[in-house]
Amino acid sequence: MSGANFPRIEAAEAGSIRRGATILRGGGLVAFPTETVYGLGADASRESAVARIFEAKKRPRFNPLIVHVRDLGHAESLGDFNDGARRLAETFWPGPLTLVLPRRTDCAIAHLASAGLDTIALRVPAHPVARQLLTESRLAIAAPSANASGAVSATAAAHVAVSLGSAVDLILDGGPAPLGIESTIVGFDESGPLLLRPGALAREDIETVTGQLGNLPSDQIVSPGRLRSHYAPSTPLRLDAREANENEALLAFGPDVPAHVAAVRNLSPAGDLREAAANFFAMLRELDAAGCTGIAVMPLPEHGLGEAINDRLRRAAAPKVE
Ligand code: TXA
Ligand code: MG
Repeated sequence: MSGANFPRIEAAEAGSIRRGATILRGGGLVAFPTETVYGLGADASRESAVARIFEAKKRPRFNPLIVHVRDLGHAESLGDFNDGARRLAETFWPGPLTLVLPRRTDCAIAHLASAGLDTIALRVPAHPVARQLLTESRLAIAAPSANASGAVSATAAAHVAVSLGSAVDLILDGGPAPLGIESTIVGFDESGPLLLRPGALAREDIETVTGQLGNLPSDQIVSPGRLRSHYAPSTPLRLDAREANENEALLAFGPDVPAHVAAVRNLSPAGDLREAAANFFAMLRELDAAGCTGIAVMPLPEHGLGEAINDRLRRAAAPKVE
């Protein structure tokens, strides 16, 4: 069944998985089963493909996504593994464990997948369909749970179809997700490993490898001062600017950009919000590094991905609370 309101669902087998890999390589979205829940996947190295994920999930804001890879070697090319992280990976991968690690300086993953953070969440899934999709596509696949924002995680192809509809190019049906709850997320701070999200891998199992895990306050994925939850530029932002002052950098949007001599980046000269989302974190970092006294930000519309971009801009512009 395909058409405006009916997403394509195909039974997961060699041919459909190959088609899924081709869609991913072309920048499209493919929902696929993992052993925990269904994921909504895109090429993690491509900012514009990752932007489509947020658009499809109708997330009111950018949350960092889990990047799925085929093996530990691939993961080590993206994140900086400490000894503890490597031991956990060797023990529990493939499986329902996600590790949050510093991004390597040469990390080839879209900044949008990390929501601008200097860290990356990595997981090697065990489900054969997910593994075959990773092998066929030869990609790192960014994939949040395949549900609309605020809805429960999808554990069957039909749930994905109901939740996300035609925003997905293909849904690979591999039957019910065997575990049915999300992966356990472990991060690290100066004092060692921390449980960031309880999930399908029990804390006790992890602790046989790490010793006692530190905790974070419940429902706070990352806490200020320990692991940073949001990227904030160190240069002050001035929102809804129509023009930039002499010493300000300018983050522009749309075709009508005021003439300006200091650093300028245009999120989307054409005024396209998906393109703006794809450029957002990389351009904000570039302007933050430009050595200006401030960053003037032109207004962006509040619809579509504009809502998420504006949310992130308002947080970045708010006075810092420590
Ligand atoms: O089982 C799972 O983990 C599923 C399957 C598809 O792999 N995925 C999943 O993704 O549950 P999602 O996006 O629904 O949840 C990912 C969680 C979010 O709470 C996010 O904040 C956290 O991972 N996360 C991702 N990157 C992070 C980072 N760099 N630092 C801290 N938390 C991060
Ligand atoms: Mg989720």
